[in-house]
Amino acid sequence: MRFLVTGGLGVNGAWVVRDLLGRGHEVAVFESRDDTSLIEDVADRVELVVGDIRDAERLTDAAVRLRPDCVIHLAAFVDCERDPHTAIAVNVGGTAAVCAAAVAAGARRVVYTSSKAVYAPATGKRGFPTYESVPEDDELRPTGMYGITKVAAENVVAWYGRNSEVECVSLRFATIFGPGRLQRHAGPINTYSSMIELPASGRGFAIEQGGDERDDIIYVLDVADAIACVALAPRPLRHEAYNVAGGHAVSMHDFADAIRRVVPGAALDIGPGLNPMQMPDSYYMALDGTRMEEEFGWRPRYDPDRAIRHYYELVRTRLA
Ligand SMILES: NC(=O)c1ccc[n+]([C@@H]2O[C@H](COP(=O)([O-])OP(=O)(O)OC[C@H]3O[C@@H](n4cnc5c(N)ncnc54)[C@H](O)[C@@H]3O)[C@@H](O)[C@H]2O)c1
Repeated sequence: MRFLVTGGLGVNGAWVVRDLLGRGHEVAVFESRDDTSLIEDVADRVELVVGDIRDAERLTDAAVRLRPDCVIHLAAFVDCERDPHTAIAVNVGGTAAVCAAAVAAGARRVVYTSSKAVYAPATGKRGFPTYESVPEDDELRPTGMYGITKVAAENVVAWYGRNSEVECVSLRFATIFGPGRLQRHAGPINTYSSMIELPASGRGFAIEQGGDERDDIIYVLDVADAIACVALAPRPLRHEAYNVAGGHAVSMHDFADAIRRVVPGAALDIGPGLNPMQMPDSYYMALDGTRMEEEFGWRPRYDPDRAIRHYYELVRTRLA
């Protein structure tokens, strides 16, 4: 099959590209940057079109020329609280342009990468101390601009699904960790990845608070696998949205212990309490992954121990 991947040079996109190539598919990437450092090993097998998803004409031209069977849409703007105008333009307007391009190109399916942020803030039963797992039909009332754009984009995606021949689906991911995040993203959203990468390169990791907070975390290779699984599933899909859960609401203390078992001498200093990333709204929760499992038989293949071992090996190889 032929795939067009928006944001394919980003953290998740790079693993999606690698996964699809590994399964023998053709992959083109539509990206605002030409920095192929995260897909160095496979860059020569990918057609790269540099452009902005807000540029509907360029995007449609590329899609019509490439004729993908499926469009996987990962391009997004994440600094949403600082710049809500750009957030809405890229995440909502850009998503509409991606769907319209898929329709014009006669694609079979669009897979949109949404987030558990649609369920934030995780108050009441969703949050500490119960962390009741959240199913897809739970109420969506995000207060943060990132979640607001994700819900709006999901609605746009669903509208295109109802009003065209293209099947359109949204995947709501748990908190993602994995190689590439430290190169691409600064700040507390990298907490889980920093906890592995800093000790792996001989540096310490310390946070004042948050050791008792649990969160549903998922390894980036499972993210790519879930996207490929849904992209390749036979028509019709039964639902417009699916949670992609890591399957483990792990506390920071437990995650740190798992790292200590793998990374020799890992210096991790984690204070007690909640909210390790010190975010104004709580994003820490557990997702109910039953829908993915019942419809596709999909489950994450990496529990935290296996993910940490895999991640550590990649970092060590890179540093060697
Ligand atoms: N990282 C997480 O924990 C997480 C969790 C849930 C969902 N997601 C979603 O997964 C998707 C990918 O996230 P990521 O962590 O790989 O992000 P990333 O920033 O590493 O990758 C996004 C890519 O999109 C490109 N891009 C940004 N704006 C663009 C535009 N206007 N036009 C074309 N390309 C553009 C960037 O250059 C980048 O390479 C996003 O939709 C994100 O919201 C991420």
